[in-house]
Amino acid sequence: MSTIKRTWKVNGKSVAVRAPAGRRLLDFLREDLGLVGSKEGCGEGECGACTVIVDGEPVVSCILPVGQLPDGTEILTVEGIEKKRAGRLIQQAFVECGAVQCGFCIPGMVVSSYALLCRNPKPSVQAIREGLAGNLCRCTGYTKIIQAVKLAASRLPKRK
Ligand code: FES
Ligand code: FES
Repeated sequence: MSTIKRTWKVNGKSVAVRAPAGRRLLDFLREDLGLVGSKEGCGEGECGACTVIVDGEPVVSCILPVGQLPDGTEILTVEGIEKKRAGRLIQQAFVECGAVQCGFCIPGMVVSSYALLCRNPKPSVQAIREGLAGNLCRCTGYTKIIQAVKLAASRLPKRK
């Protein structure tokens, strides 16, 4: 398999990428960069635990080969999001609302919530449901997660 040689920006830092084109982005992030916040749940693109933001869009990294990402790709993982004010507000709201049980889905939930609030700072309950539709949680029943996103939205400054 061919090896790609590219430069991306990951959590705001320039990263030299040398990897087989078919390597999964999730593995590259976790194993090559040590960014283990993104989790592997299903490994089939169904659960959202591995969600990261690629060029502004939330994507599941477990089914994305690195070869598909060109030079200059910008990736934001949960580690980068938690350094941002909006990310901290989201995490805090999840804790306050009791939206975390086993916690396995939470990194992906935080990433998808951040992406949602970036494009829609005051989402309706329906918009939150749609924004988190790709993220599965087997513990919470989603009600508290939706409350947490609402709470975070209410605390966000107008511009993040
Ligand atoms: S681990 Fe990627 S979607 Fe489930
Ligand atoms: S808190 Fe356990 S899967 Fe969501």
